[in-house]
Amino acid sequence: MNTDLFGLAGRVAVVTGGGQGLGRGICELFAAVGAKVAVLDIDADLADDVARSLPTEAIGLGVDVRHKAELDDATADVLRRLGAPVAWVNNVGGLAGVAAGPTIELAAGDLALVLELNVTGTLLACQSAIGALAATGEGGAIVNICSLQGMKGSPHLAAYGAAKAAVAQLTQTLALEHAPQHIRVNAVAPSFVETPASALLVSDERRAASLRSIPLGFISQPADIAGTVLALASDLTRFVTGQVIIADGGLSLTTARPHRAQIG
Ligand SMILES: NC(=O)c1ccc[n+]([C@@H]2O[C@H](COP(=O)([O-])OP(=O)(O)OC[C@H]3O[C@@H](n4cnc5c(N)ncnc54)[C@H](O)[C@@H]3O)[C@@H](O)[C@H]2O)c1
Repeated sequence: MNTDLFGLAGRVAVVTGGGQGLGRGICELFAAVGAKVAVLDIDADLADDVARSLPTEAIGLGVDVRHKAELDDATADVLRRLGAPVAWVNNVGGLAGVAAGPTIELAAGDLALVLELNVTGTLLACQSAIGALAATGEGGAIVNICSLQGMKGSPHLAAYGAAKAAVAQLTQTLALEHAPQHIRVNAVAPSFVETPASALLVSDERRAASLRSIPLGFISQPADIAGTVLALASDLTRFVTGQVIIADGGLSLTTARPHRAQIG
């Protein structure tokens, strides 16, 4: 009997932004099911720390996903040192240092920063991923990280919401273009995840309000979202492509959503 239900044992997975937060949680879960992991992060020290902490073979690489040349170098390193990947997670994203605020005041330069980190970074990394996944001839899986903010109105977070909506659309388009190569492209859209980024942005009061609004009654940890990512990266979902799976504890099902800016 095949006990490697995920089909990832001894195979290679790449995770961008794997140095902390959700990305780190994804690296840890992939390693727990036996995958070799390439941890890509703009902070090379964080990437190295995570790689060293994993129980399987792993490498940490300093990469800014906004720069194709850096992604190309990292991809070549992954192929040479670990082998061809079968899973690639594009987790880098966020507010890019742009403060929440009324959309009517959103500056074009701030919008560009958020789009560059979330959309350009994901597009360039998908291009690298497709080249690398195609190398095995058997295809593989890409999982992009979106956000509930990209699927609903996002008061005071217009740039972030628009950027994550673009990542969702990109996911569908790439899924169709690369289905013939058996490369599946899906996305996970979390609401609020407890990570270093959200800890900086969310007050205790705001956190308590979020908790009250989540039907399942808890705020997700990186491992909760990583489980959904793993499912989409694994053979278990081999017939699923172009989907954005919401992982939000039921928040998006409720009608009484807080009419305030939400982080995530
Ligand atoms: N935390 C939440 O509540 C939440 C909710 C929904 C979606 N998300 C999404 O989940 C993803 C991870 O969020 P997080 O909260 O773990 O973020 P985080 O800021 O805690 O971690 C992001 C990681 O990415 C790295 N990074 C940043 N810019 C980079 C770049 N240009 N190139 C390579 N690496 C870079 C950082 O060094 C860091 O290690 C993001 O796409 C975010 O939008 C987060």
